[in-house]
Amino acid sequence: MKSLDLRQQQRALLDNIPDMAWLKDRECHYLAVNTAYLRVLGVAEEEVLGRTPREVWSPEIAEVYLRSDQAVLRSGRRRRYEETRPSPDGGLRCFETIKSPIRDENGRIVGTVGISRDISERKAAEDELVASRAELRALSHYLQKVREEERKRIARELHDELGQTLTAMKMDLGWLREHLPGQQYGARTERLIGLVDRSVADLRRIASDLRPLILDELGLVSAMHWLVDKVAAHSDLDIDLTFDREDLTYDAETSTAAFRIVQEALTNVVRHSGARTVTISAYHAQERLHIEILDDGRGLPPVATSRRFDRHGLLGMDERARMLGGTVSVGNVPDGGVRVCAILPLASRGAVS
Ligand SMILES: Nc1ncnc2c1ncn2[C@@H]1O[C@H](COP(=O)(O)OP(=O)(O)OP(=O)(O)O)[C@@H](O)[C@H]1O
Ligand SMILES: [Mg+2]
Repeated sequence: MKSLDLRQQQRALLDNIPDMAWLKDRECHYLAVNTAYLRVLGVAEEEVLGRTPREVWSPEIAEVYLRSDQAVLRSGRRRRYEETRPSPDGGLRCFETIKSPIRDENGRIVGTVGISRDISERKAAEDELVASRAELRALSHYLQKVREEERKRIARELHDELGQTLTAMKMDLGWLREHLPGQQYGARTERLIGLVDRSVADLRRIASDLRPLILDELGLVSAMHWLVDKVAAHSDLDIDLTFDREDLTYDAETSTAAFRIVQEALTNVVRHSGARTVTISAYHAQERLHIEILDDGRGLPPVATSRRFDRHGLLGMDERARMLGGTVSVGNVPDGGVRVCAILPLASRGAVS
């Protein structure tokens, strides 16, 4: 078989690269370029070989190339950067360029080798992904807000409208009990009064599950105490809640986010942790409200640790905090148990004393 000379080997290697590729000497003269390079420039090989970027590219682009060549020659290190260049159709295209030094057998740098890949499509796809993530996040925030408002409205109507009607019914039944003659009427109205009482209790429970009125009427601190008492009453958990400032009130969005985050964290403790005690500390630092929920249970399972926001509860906490420019972190603590840490900024929203 006839062997290829070095030049043919070089040519074959370079032309097999679909991206622009070239070799330059120490003075930045082109020693070789591949067909992809010539195609992008729309020139013949003779117009490039032996020349420097100044004679091939526009002055601004040439300066960038010479500077990056010099940087590679000086440092002896590979450089990778992204650049935007005008394309023949008048638009702009984005390239990822990698330049490396070429060394002789004594390790002396004798030139540079470069490759430049058109990443415009990838960039456009990345930009689109970022934009669509932002859109999804905005939609999720909007839905959270609408859902919360809807819950508030239904809870309020259940409490005010239906609650009032039932109270009026109970009063009238009480009157009937007093005034109806005969034993059988008395027993029936007594039963009806019992049913009305049960309905009132059910209605209160449903309304507060939707959204506790205490949150809107008395604020976050009272609502957190109410929540802790409720969870403690329905579980074996020992819950300790401390607030460094019980005198502050917060805007509706911050109160809602903080309340829902603590509510989800406590629900998770009850459902998943097997913990005996939970410590909730809320404190203010650097114009932020910090809420830490620490349990002494079995901790997150490995898969939840590695994919932290893979379920709705933790994801929802994160989204609520992000809505306000805050963060939520969830992780295991060294002695076992889980720590949820929410930080909500107050600066622009203002905690009011
Ligand atoms: N305090 C905790 N202790 C132990 N494991 C926990 C704790 N909190 C969360 N986890 C684990 O993390 C997982 C994800 O929690 P997340 O709240 O996102 O989902 P979930 O509670 O399973 O479902 P939901 O969407 O109803 O909240 C849980 O399934 C559980 O395995
Ligand atoms: Mg959950």
